[in-house]
Amino acid sequence: MSTMSQNNLEGQRALVTGATSGIGRAVAFQLARDGAEVLVHGRDAARGAETVQEITAARGKASFVAADLGDVTDVQRLATDVGDVDILINNAGIALFGATAEFEVSAFDKMFASNVRAPFFLVAAFAPGMAARDHGSIVSVSSMAGGVGLVGGAAYGATKASLEAMTRAWAAEYSASGVRVNAIAPGPVYTPTPSGPDFITALGETTPMHRAAQPEEIAEVVSFLASPRASYITGTTVAADGGRRAI
Ligand SMILES: NC(=O)c1ccc[n+]([C@@H]2O[C@H](COP(=O)([O-])OP(=O)(O)OC[C@H]3O[C@@H](n4cnc5c(N)ncnc54)[C@H](OP(=O)(O)O)[C@@H]3O)[C@@H](O)[C@H]2O)c1
Repeated sequence: MSTMSQNNLEGQRALVTGATSGIGRAVAFQLARDGAEVLVHGRDAARGAETVQEITAARGKASFVAADLGDVTDVQRLATDVGDVDILINNAGIALFGATAEFEVSAFDKMFASNVRAPFFLVAAFAPGMAARDHGSIVSVSSMAGGVGLVGGAAYGATKASLEAMTRAWAAEYSASGVRVNAIAPGPVYTPTPSGPDFITALGETTPMHRAAQPEEIAEVVSFLASPRASYITGTTVAADGGRRAI
């Protein structure tokens, strides 16, 4: 990793959920490169320490915070422990695909808990403080599955469509108080997702660009939306999906 060069987030604190892996990890690196102090969230303390170590080795500022977002009490405990943040990235989530008729109730509930309930209560915890300070940016990581029908993706797509609906409502609720709220809907991205690399490659083939993305390509867009460079953007979901949602 190249040495951090400070950009336009100097003095800002950012919480990135699910930053121990994949897209969240790349977002944590990018925000730290842009000058933010990054709170790297996850459950796996070893991967959290590794992420923090790589950021600090490149002269970025980072620390690890653990919480299980499937447990709403732990979500609220996380918010209390973290204190005020200027940027919240709701990235943590799980993608479970399966035939509707065979989908387990426990998998459905687990996905809604981490993908929908946790972002809702994190925004409930952090947005009022941002609004009181007249300053803040929230970016949630949705998916193209929230906007296109994928075989086996009914439940997962529903979690992401919910996240996009909440994003619009939060923008209506908080934008007048200086808090911008947006989402990004990535197409397939090479991460250690349970779906596996073959599934990601096959999905990438269905895009007009005939490929999946690298996490850094998503992190670029997230860091833009989080930054003052996106000062007139709120309430929207930006597609970063190789054109898949357009066709
Ligand atoms: N990969 C894709 O193709 C793709 C495409 C579109 C959208 N997305 C979305 O992008 C986001 C990140 O996906 P990814 O592929 O980068 O995932 P990933 O590599 O599997 O990483 C998931 C991250 O979320 C954390 N996490 C998951 N459930 C959690 C829970 N209950 N409590 C706390 N942390 C939890 C994990 O933390 P620990 O491992 O430390 O527990 C990990 O840091 C997700 O919201 C996903 O839906 C992914």
